[in-house]
Amino acid sequence: MELKDNYDRAFPYLRLSITDVCNFRCEYCLPDGYHCDSKPKFLDQDEIRRLVTAFAELGVWKIRLTGGEPSVRKDFTEITKLVSGIDGIDAMAFTTNGYRLKQNATTWYEAGMRRINVSIDSLNPEKFHEITGHNRLPEILEGVEKSLEIGYDSVKINVVLLKGLNDQELPDYLAYVKDRPITVRFIELMQTGDNLAYFKQRHLSADVIRQQLLDQGWVENIRENGAGPAVNFTHPDYQGAIGLIAPYSKDFCTNCNRLRVTATGDLRLCLFGDVGVPLRDLLARDDQKEALQMRIMKQLNYKKSSHFLADGNTGILPNLSATGG
Ligand code: GTP
Ligand code: 5AD
Ligand code: SF4
Repeated sequence: MELKDNYDRAFPYLRLSITDVCNFRCEYCLPDGYHCDSKPKFLDQDEIRRLVTAFAELGVWKIRLTGGEPSVRKDFTEITKLVSGIDGIDAMAFTTNGYRLKQNATTWYEAGMRRINVSIDSLNPEKFHEITGHNRLPEILEGVEKSLEIGYDSVKINVVLLKGLNDQELPDYLAYVKDRPITVRFIELMQTGDNLAYFKQRHLSADVIRQQLLDQGWVENIRENGAGPAVNFTHPDYQGAIGLIAPYSKDFCTNCNRLRVTATGDLRLCLFGDVGVPLRDLLARDDQKEALQMRIMKQLNYKKSSHFLADGNTGILPNLSATGG
């Protein structure tokens, strides 16, 4: 069984947010401060099990736990164990700000976690503090080292490219990946519902990084069908790689391979401009599985070919701490 949309794109990859809560306050993500007045009730372990089982039977084999910060959930390790143990799930991933990585990388690996993406927006401690509001850079980097030692299948670093803040740091990241099997991905800042002023001030095209890489002999790899949003660059003298995620570039969506479910159980077909459809009413009992699968498949008919609207603009993107990016 394979989930496919009307544009012949297959969806083997589900990004499942398990919480909106984050203990960091990255400027671009929560520019005006994040206030959570009434705490929503996030999917519990039984609901997560039913959801992932239904998706796995529809051909999903990769799950990425996202947030907020997924590891703030007290049952994060149990969720990892539960999801990675579901039949058909071959790639267990999560995206984190890294604040608990050093202490927990071993426990999480033992629970079945295999792929980690860590946000590190600067390798300069002062800049890092300025962007994230925390000075935990040294321990986050130690957590990354630890993950490499343990032997995670994949360790990637995410850098949101920010004009005037970290746009001069390519040489530092290149030195960092010289002898480490890590992919550092520069992500273009995306405009969300509440960061317009910040977006105008800080957004920068990833072309500036691309040009520097090409000038220094890096080779752009072909983005294979279904490979996801990053365009990767490699260099024979470097163990690691550099990726660029440029959501405003042409053809970005042709390789879309993922669906999203929010922490309260809404299916989102696209990161941009999609209000989502609730699935939670079909997660209460095991015998609702077929109905759940029918709803998911029906919904896929509404997935658009691209997040660009007819006027060339994109739909509004909700704050990423709510959608899990
Ligand atoms: P892998 O390919 O599994 O390593 O994951 P990823 O790069 O998709 O995951 P990660 O959570 O590290 O996301 C990195 C950045 O890419 C985040 O800023 C995401 O919001 C962004 N991103 C991921 N998928 C999409 C997408 O479908 N559309 C857009 N516009 N951005 C995306
Ligand atoms: N634009 C681009 N990337 C963002 N992230 C969060 N908000 C934005 C935004 N507005 C990134 C984080 C993390 C990933 C999950 O999403 O830095 O690496
Ligand atoms: Fe938290 Fe990630 Fe948003 Fe930073 S980008 S505030 S770490 S959810």
